[in-house]
Amino acid sequence: MIGKLNHIAIAVTDLEKATAIYRDTLGASVSEPTDLPSHGVTTVFVELPNTKIELLQPYGDNSPITGFLKKNNDGGIHHVCYEVDDIHSSSAKLVAAGARVLGDGQPKTGAHGKPVLFLHPKDFCGTLVELEQA
Ligand code: CO
Repeated sequence: MIGKLNHIAIAVTDLEKATAIYRDTLGASVSEPTDLPSHGVTTVFVELPNTKIELLQPYGDNSPITGFLKKNNDGGIHHVCYEVDDIHSSSAKLVAAGARVLGDGQPKTGAHGKPVLFLHPKDFCGTLVELEQA
């Protein structure tokens, strides 16, 4: 069902510093920061030859990553995103297999303007999984 690794998301408290680490220390090409108020995050994408790293910093007071950063003061890997061909049929198969889809279970528009949904970390080896329709 899952295809390519679309990105790995890393939550950070200081987006400027994290961007500088990827750009200057690691020599990667990085995007400008983008505020996504509806997702409660500001993102920077690091472009790698085979995938992307998504740097996430909380945006606003009700960011979904604030709790994660309270537990992980230095930041850390927040989720992995796999591509699927059809998000509705993938979701239906996963729910039938007993997996929990977060939120209202319906895909939302993600950071790349494509439909995404998130799967409960307890059902996937302790890792928050994002599915994106490629
Ligand atoms: Co993501």
